[in-house]
Amino acid sequence: MIKQAIIPLAGLGTRLLPLSSVFAKELLPINGKPGIEYILDECIDAGIKDIIFIISKKKEIIRKYFYNDKLYKSIIKKKKDPRIIKEYKKILFYKKRIKFVYQNKPLGTGNAVFKTKKFIKNKFFLMLFPDDLIMKKNCSKEMMKVHKKYKGSVMASMKVKKNNVDRWGIYSISKNLDKNNFKILDVIEKPNPKYSPSNNAVIGRYILNRDIFKYLKNQKKGKGGEIHITDAIRKMITKNNSFIGHKFSGKYLDCGTMSGYINSGIKISKL
Ligand code: G1P
Repeated sequence: MIKQAIIPLAGLGTRLLPLSSVFAKELLPINGKPGIEYILDECIDAGIKDIIFIISKKKEIIRKYFYNDKLYKSIIKKKKDPRIIKEYKKILFYKKRIKFVYQNKPLGTGNAVFKTKKFIKNKFFLMLFPDDLIMKKNCSKEMMKVHKKYKGSVMASMKVKKNNVDRWGIYSISKNLDKNNFKILDVIEKPNPKYSPSNNAVIGRYILNRDIFKYLKNQKKGKGGEIHITDAIRKMITKNNSFIGHKFSGKYLDCGTMSGYINSGIKISKL
């Protein structure tokens, strides 16, 4: 059973400037609810008990969002507003499940994952990227079923436009396992569209084997001078670790770019 999830939140969010210049992009509202709460709801609904947030000193505001008890308590004392009481209870519910670790230098997703090493208790854990919302169907839950059936690691996937592959990790398939699941042959971070092996993109949900830490320990910087989780995964695949690409059935919303963020609010309001 997968009981732990990690969520990298230390990124600078430059794609969302100026919205992210003094504020954490993950707290920006999407149809009246901070983006991070959609991710938390997905985790908790999938049975995750223990959630690790990787933040940075610059993003302390995320911790504050969950530790603002004084404010809630004083307001509730003065005025017993049922809406505020309900919201506060929800925050407390999340808070109980969240731990914080720090990545103060923006060295990339691989480095962020490595920071959680000593907290991961079981062989497999879940990772969710807050830029990627998947609505209507719980993608984490679906991936846990795939993991149970085929054992190895799993990454969420979907086809993207061929001229857009340089926004994503892109993988090639060695074998179709069934209609929605593929054994991955290789994966490459943000390839040039001219040389891309396919248009199968990795979306921000991963079930990872704890062995990934061994590979991350010595992982060198890659694309854009960052340490990428994709590069460590690539190494694991070459050492015969099985990785499955799972075509998820939910509705994908990219909240990590300005146009995507604006669209997400509109799309969620219509769901
Ligand atoms: C990251 C990963 C990339 C993956 C993407 C999914 O990129 O590095 O492989 O396809 O998330 O959203 P980022 O969004 O951090 O640029």
